[in-house]
Amino acid sequence: MAKLYVNPKVKKGHLNPELQGHFSEHLGRCIYEGIYVGENSDIPNVNGMRTDVVEALKEIHVPVLRWPGGCFADEYHWKDGIGPKEGRKKMINTHWGGVVEDNSFGTHEFMELCRQVGCKTYINGNVGSGTVQEMSEWVEYMTFEGVSPMADLRKKNGHEEAWTVDYFGVGNENWGCGGNMRPEYYGDLYRRYQTYIRNYDREKPVYKIACGANAGDYHWTDKVLETTFDHGRGFMNGLSLHYYTVPGDWGKKGSALEFDEKEYYRTLKATLKMEELIKRHGAIMDQYDPEKKIGMVIDEWGTWYDVEPGTNPGFLYQQNTMRDALVAGINLNLFNKNCDRVKMANIAQMVNVLQSVLLTDGKRMVKTPTWYAFHMYQVHQDAELVESFVETREVGQEEENKVPNLTESVSQSQDGKLHLTLTNLSLDEAEDIESIFADSQVKAVKGTVLTGKMQAHNTFDEPDQVHEEAFSAITVKEDRISFTIPACSVLHLEVELA
Ligand code: AHR
Repeated sequence: MAKLYVNPKVKKGHLNPELQGHFSEHLGRCIYEGIYVGENSDIPNVNGMRTDVVEALKEIHVPVLRWPGGCFADEYHWKDGIGPKEGRKKMINTHWGGVVEDNSFGTHEFMELCRQVGCKTYINGNVGSGTVQEMSEWVEYMTFEGVSPMADLRKKNGHEEAWTVDYFGVGNENWGCGGNMRPEYYGDLYRRYQTYIRNYDREKPVYKIACGANAGDYHWTDKVLETTFDHGRGFMNGLSLHYYTVPGDWGKKGSALEFDEKEYYRTLKATLKMEELIKRHGAIMDQYDPEKKIGMVIDEWGTWYDVEPGTNPGFLYQQNTMRDALVAGINLNLFNKNCDRVKMANIAQMVNVLQSVLLTDGKRMVKTPTWYAFHMYQVHQDAELVESFVETREVGQEEENKVPNLTESVSQSQDGKLHLTLTNLSLDEAEDIESIFADSQVKAVKGTVLTGKMQAHNTFDEPDQVHEEAFSAITVKEDRISFTIPACSVLHLEVELA
């Protein structure tokens, strides 16, 4: 029997709701069809946003949404997406699928989406092919209340009040699709561009995010920080990190649905690398910023497989199985455990692209196993991380791809309840667990579980194959509870102490 030790009196940090953030790009069917169908669509919508999708996003309390990219961000010119729709420029989305981008979803529509979902806004600016003036004017357009050319233009376009921009990214992947820059060069550009992101609303300053590394590129992190640090000021609030779970290699990534047990464990092993990346990039950040004032913002994470057969390779559409739910559970536990440095994380991407929480097909929508993982973990939003430790053993089939059978994190929400989220990565072995709560007596416990075969998934014809179910087989005895976590599962337990 594995022991899970929980020490409710020891708090390890605050869990920003933004650790469960999302990302939506002008890519494939994410924005168009997945979210925005236009006011005249026969798909039920409010101001063009499909109602089924908005309602499902509200159910998981999406805390923040990043937009418009991604690689698209460094090709996006925001003025193309404002004003009367019939006059908006049409262009080719050269990066993603070569389709026509009609700019019918722009700044006003993004802000309306965030209003409907009830989430914070994260805008990603264009450094790769945009000017300082263009970026600076965008911030003025969105956030300035007074009289100015850009504020007046916003008002002329129908929005009297300024919006709040909570987060602003200065470029995306500028080491690659965002301009193929060297870190020293990007660092200098960052210093310059960020100067003109004005805080027009002093009570709600914009949280500025510099473009960080790709996976294990520690040189980038070091050099960007070295270049941007000036007398102890980094000019930034956050530094990003991108890391995708790819079971194979970039040439042949692997199928979302057709995989064997070895590939399943390989996927989870690749996911667990996130911990090493957080620690090693974090150690570099500690050298410049020992007080951890700069947040690590993991604004792209998730599984990346080969696209579904027969779909546009530039659309990155993939199905989503129990394996993806475990990837989500592992990562969300890791973000919680590292909340001293990690301040935001955004899964890529919200609808119809890569590891999505929702898939759509015309009028139909389906919640993926990943949606359920987010649904179970939302209890951690705004909670305090509690000290915890679980005993694990290695499982898996290939020596080099063994993984610990369990991952976990524990938090205390503002109503005093404890929330334990666990993943059992083993494909065939349930695990008996005894959880001990130091110096405490357990009063009540309940939970929910998500489990199934590794390839189990929801389709438009069978949307309910994988879903969360009540979990009540829990024995309570004084300061401890015992239960059996099924193989290949995500579990949430809510514990009330006396
Ligand atoms: O999420 C898909 C793409 O992955 C993004 O556009 C880019 O930033 C990353 O390479």
